Amino acid sequence: MHKQISSFLLLLAVFFSCTTPENKEKPLAQVINESLEFATQQSLLMAESLKDQPDRLPKTINAEGQLETCGSAWWVSGFFPGVLWYLYESNPTDSLKDWAINYTLRVEDQKYTTDNHDVGFMIFCSFGNAYRLTGDTAYSEVIHTASNSLITRFNPTIGCIRSWDYAPWSAKWQYPVIIDNMMNLEMLEWASKAFSDTVYSHVAESHANTTLKNHFRDDFSSYHVISYDTITGQVEKKNTAQGYSDDSAWARGQGWGLYGYTMMYRETGNKVYLEQAEGIADFILNHPNLPEDKIPYWDFNAPDVPNAKRDASAGALICSALIELSGYVPAEKSQDYLIVAETQLRSLSSPAYRAELGANANFILKHSVGHMPNGTEVDVPLTYADYYYVEALMRMKKLLQEEEKQ
Ligand code: GLY
Repeated sequence: MHKQISSFLLLLAVFFSCTTPENKEKPLAQVINESLEFATQQSLLMAESLKDQPDRLPKTINAEGQLETCGSAWWVSGFFPGVLWYLYESNPTDSLKDWAINYTLRVEDQKYTTDNHDVGFMIFCSFGNAYRLTGDTAYSEVIHTASNSLITRFNPTIGCIRSWDYAPWSAKWQYPVIIDNMMNLEMLEWASKAFSDTVYSHVAESHANTTLKNHFRDDFSSYHVISYDTITGQVEKKNTAQGYSDDSAWARGQGWGLYGYTMMYRETGNKVYLEQAEGIADFILNHPNLPEDKIPYWDFNAPDVPNAKRDASAGALICSALIELSGYVPAEKSQDYLIVAETQLRSLSSPAYRAELGANANFILKHSVGHMPNGTEVDVPLTYADYYYVEALMRMKKLLQEEEKQ
């Protein structure tokens, strides 16, 4: 998969001289192994801390720095179980497996969710990883039910899955579709293959095609919310909810798009998705406001750059996506992506972003932004930052191991 990686490894030696002092002498493999070991210890503390609250899952911290939890219905519920599964994959101990199962089952009731699009995040990060690592069909049945729930939200006139239902705060949109929704398509593509039923992939590919047509600007940056007219199926509004402005490039949204189209290329082999992912990567990597440590500000157009808050969740998500995308492009591009991904991994693994053991309410990473315009979850740990960071560590570790074997 990664023949071009030999030259990537050679480049690493040169690159060490440009990274943070804490990590610059360490080989990348060592940074990854130490980070996975830290993530394991920290996540076991997190798991223990909620052992007496069997229907709660980690979300973020409150103003006092204490753990804030959520029930299974909040969109982030599947991420901590997913972290535990990745850590179990890295280090298959009984204790990690027991906790991974325990936290995964906390999310099961969400397989019936039909009132928002987040069922893919909730069920595929938890049960998807559970099935991938155990092959237990009890888990795949949950994914089957969840996929049937998700496709109830598809409108064939529009060609998309609806993201949010009506609420007072979403009243201005007839049919809101957010770029984040690309992430829920992975479960549908998986279900289509697992259950030999193209109904799921038809919905996923229609959604991806419609989003590709309407969500992107000429420079491959994306709007956060596109709303559709339910009678004509045409775009009615182009807005933001979590970004700085309708016309800005909200950092995590750029990450959702990058990850989403990379994943859709993997699942379908359709080159249009690959070209889209490359375009998005070019936008992010060449943006003048991408900082030297490659962890984006919460919005590429935040007015207070360079003092704007960083979003480690966007950094981790983009990092994970770039590692995968590096396997699908020619050597030179692959190296460009991997150099940025390595910088991101080293940055996130440094004390600037990674917590101390037992601190940060037992989350792995600091400094993410959930919803800046609401003033909520600003400069805090977020469970999905941890998920994509651990996923990126695992992806880079596998890539280095493949290279060693060659
Ligand atoms: N899907 C919500 C977010 O990215 O914050």
